[in-house]
Amino acid sequence: MTDRLTGKTALVTGAATGIGLSVASRFAAEGARVVFADRDGDGAGAAAAAAPEGRGRAVTMDISDEPAVEGAFAELAAAGWSPDVVVANAGVQLFGKDARIADLDLEHWRQTIDVNLTGTFLTVKHAVRGMLLNGGGSIILTGSPTGLNGEGADFTAYSASKAGIHGLARTVAAAYAKENIRVNTVVPGYTETTLVTAITSDPESRAAIIGRIPLGRAGSPADVEGIMVFLASDDAAFATGALFAVDGGMTTL
Ligand SMILES: NC(=O)c1ccc[n+]([C@@H]2O[C@H](COP(=O)([O-])OP(=O)(O)OC[C@H]3O[C@@H](n4cnc5c(N)ncnc54)[C@H](O)[C@@H]3O)[C@@H](O)[C@H]2O)c1
Repeated sequence: MTDRLTGKTALVTGAATGIGLSVASRFAAEGARVVFADRDGDGAGAAAAAAPEGRGRAVTMDISDEPAVEGAFAELAAAGWSPDVVVANAGVQLFGKDARIADLDLEHWRQTIDVNLTGTFLTVKHAVRGMLLNGGGSIILTGSPTGLNGEGADFTAYSASKAGIHGLARTVAAAYAKENIRVNTVVPGYTETTLVTAITSDPESRAAIIGRIPLGRAGSPADVEGIMVFLASDDAAFATGALFAVDGGMTTL
């Protein structure tokens, strides 16, 4: 660890587990004060408690609920923890419910869009409002290969939500560049977390997906940390509106 984020305050959504937990914990190890935000309050609390002394704080928030998101940012501002780095990372993928479009229920479409796209919109909206008061900041969105390529006939709602996130990032980056707010998207490849248990637990599906990854292995949450630290840091001062894949080469094919 090189203290690349000393002096920064970060908020990471979906920080109770998976990619968000890994990134948020790494930010704290790099010197940042970190808000571990999740709808799983116990998980967020445990993660924040494991951060170095004085660098972890937990917030329970459902990103699809605007009063909860707005309230969380207000609470942080009042406590002197207004974030200058925000990672809008929380997301869901409804394996077994997301489906080819003719078979996809409106309910499951809405559940996916409400969290992944509307939740990201709300997180970014209130992050930007705070950053406008504080002289700028860095926002990082977690995208997906499914937002770039056709990755699965069953991933209708999920792919649409992630393509929406990629578009949202570009638009907000252009809209707020003059206010010193940078917005970038990180595209993790197949990363073994609880989100993708349906693939990980099925040897045939797992082998098929790894067979499509040029680097020849699955990703782990730790693989996503480095690019997030870079984008959060002042080393990335000239990077905005861009998309950074950490996918073992999957999207080159
Ligand atoms: N795992 C992969 O292969 C992969 C690949 C590309 C993109 N992603 C994206 O990475 C992000 C993190 O995924 P992960 O694999 O770490 O998943 P995960 O299921 O391990 O963790 C997701 C976290 O988000 C939280 N969360 C879910 N809905 C929420 C809500 N409404 N409000 C607040 N928190 C909520 C969960 O409680 C959980 O802690 C997601 O946006 C996912 O779409 C994952």
